[in-house]
Amino acid sequence: MAVVAPSMLGADFGRLRELAELVAPHSGYLHMDVMDGHFVPNLTMGPDTIAALRGIAPLDVHLMVTDPLNFIESFADAGADIITVHAEANDTAASIDAIHARGLKAGVAIRPSTPLSALDPWLDAAELLLPMSVEPGFCGQEFDEGTYDRIRSLREARPDTLIEVDGGVTCENAAALREAGADILVSGSAIFGTEDPVASARMIAGLE
Ligand code: DX5
Ligand code: ZN
Repeated sequence: MAVVAPSMLGADFGRLRELAELVAPHSGYLHMDVMDGHFVPNLTMGPDTIAALRGIAPLDVHLMVTDPLNFIESFADAGADIITVHAEANDTAASIDAIHARGLKAGVAIRPSTPLSALDPWLDAAELLLPMSVEPGFCGQEFDEGTYDRIRSLREARPDTLIEVDGGVTCENAAALREAGADILVSGSAIFGTEDPVASARMIAGLE
């Protein structure tokens, strides 16, 4: 069954814990976007922010950084349950090994413009695959329609690997994404930018 992972980057940071506690009972994970201002042109959160939400729900940490290997230990210590690195970044194999060495699930992500074949080397090693549906960096961008086919191909190739979709996921496209084979639906603005984050999260998860 698919689950929703609210992207805390879309939340008001002044109310981060309160909003995390609000949506957590309806969510499989809290999605935490880490950006280094180099791999993507934005700066967001670090290990202390992840640690602040530890224990509320499993934490799905998405590293949009050039050198993820430098940070695996800090995010594992902070309480990450899944750590995802980008195939376009440095040291993917060593990063996956470091994540596994800490007993965590390893994910590999690609940008919408990166060919799906960039995931091929990691299909056996990764527990989670993330074909991004927006250019990484910011909340509130438009969903890339090419993502449906990418999810379908991955689902066919890897029936038992978690497939995540991240970027531009809304109440409107969630059902089609679940149908295509997505297991974890990440959503920021369509949850925290609405009047009723719980209702939106439940709709995206397919709970109502
Ligand atoms: C984009 C991030 C996403 C983003 C999703 O780089 O990885 O997790 O927060 O936000 P929405 O759902 O608003 O596209
Ligand atoms: Zn993300």
